[in-house]
Amino acid sequence: MERIENDYVFHRDLKKEYPIITHGVGSYLIDENGKKYLDACSGAVAANLGHGIPFIGEAMADQAKKAAFVHTMRFETKALHQLAETIGKMAPDQLNKVYFTTGGSEANESAMKLARQYHRDAGRSQKHIVIGRWQSYHGNTIGSLSAGGDVKRRHAYTPNLLNYAHVYSPYCHRCPYDRQHDDCLSNQNWTCVTDIERTILELGPENVSAFIAEPIVGSQQGAVPPPPGYFEKVRELCDRYEIVLIIDEVMTGFGRTGTNFATEQIRITPDIITFGKGVSAGYAPLAGMIVHDRLIEGLIQNSDGKFIHGYTYSGHPVAVAAGLAALDVYKRERVLDNVIKQGDYLFNRLLELKQKHTYIADVRGRGLLIGIELVRDRELDLLFDPAEKAADRLNGIAMELGAVFYPGAGSIDGTKGEHLIISPPLNAIKKEIDEIVRILDESLTIFKSLERKGERYEITK
Ligand SMILES: Cc1ncc(COP(=O)(O)O)c(C=O)c1O
Repeated sequence: MERIENDYVFHRDLKKEYPIITHGVGSYLIDENGKKYLDACSGAVAANLGHGIPFIGEAMADQAKKAAFVHTMRFETKALHQLAETIGKMAPDQLNKVYFTTGGSEANESAMKLARQYHRDAGRSQKHIVIGRWQSYHGNTIGSLSAGGDVKRRHAYTPNLLNYAHVYSPYCHRCPYDRQHDDCLSNQNWTCVTDIERTILELGPENVSAFIAEPIVGSQQGAVPPPPGYFEKVRELCDRYEIVLIIDEVMTGFGRTGTNFATEQIRITPDIITFGKGVSAGYAPLAGMIVHDRLIEGLIQNSDGKFIHGYTYSGHPVAVAAGLAALDVYKRERVLDNVIKQGDYLFNRLLELKQKHTYIADVRGRGLLIGIELVRDRELDLLFDPAEKAADRLNGIAMELGAVFYPGAGSIDGTKGEHLIISPPLNAIKKEIDEIVRILDESLTIFKSLERKGERYEITK
């Protein structure tokens, strides 16, 4: 009781105590006791340039001193135009208009609403259903949660969720349709794709507004890339049935996977790309969407140029200044080159670790978005019981040792399947990658000895 009375923070977990961070330096966070944590997951795959960069802080302070807030219903800033131009030029050719929000959930809400308005105003007024994918995450607002497929996050709110449809996202390593990847490739009969078409036909194409997917599934599956050719087939289906294709790059955008957008790797042009996290490298709440010319022309012709939507903090000048400064750093420091170099190195080091620890069943990902699947025993293909919270506990041990990873669960079927995402800042150096691997190695060894003794590492921090 005393703790509740003296603590005014509504914590993520009210039963847990969290270290208080006083500052960050590069890839490290330092708490009030001076303990250092190597940020091996960039917070939530957001602090993509590490911590404490004065250039970004100063750019934000300069903007705050000049004009901290203008309402985009009546005014704009130069910084807004500059950032939109920079992002528009990074995106695929026909995606040119950039709309800003404060977070990824809002970005996906905006994209799904835009798809709906675009259809409605063009006379396709029945189109309203979004098809999402199981084991995918698009945010925590009611709309984005409805589109996402995170069983645990959805469960508490099932009665409130919108009537959206879901198909499985490909997880060839453990195909939810019990298919073999080579078999799919050789006879070009992909159940994960035919299931999308079946779902569209069942709902009635006249009712389906949008399809939303992460190009590489992040927090819910642990950095799982699609099989080559999957998104080309999805694009064909969306074209055939006039469905807006939204690619959620909130986690993958701005170099995380080795290209500006992961969309470049899946070789399609989406109708909308949503982004967040890395755009400001975590220095300010900033996100948004980049929209295809076709939708913009539709809005101009059929909607009098107006998207019936908007947030108070859309295009917030200080957040936009953070975005501009962050993108400048990415470019100046040639971060993309580093992602490819360190990403390859980290991937290979994790493959070595897999040889040593039978807890690791799979290493996957692109660039510096890498996931490992954790099982009780790889040789016996024995999974952890979800109640054991294996990934969480492993991360707890790692934090004791001074590194923080991004644990997740439910990657296989919504409940079973444990994974850890390893996603250090995009400018991490080799020495830091080595330290990440060393701490992960030690954590797995400690995890094993505790398991043998039948003891559990209790997570209090
Ligand atoms: C792919 C993806 N989409 C959307 C979101 C939601 O973003 P936010 O938490 O900024 O609302 C996330 C956050 O983790 C994400 O990873």
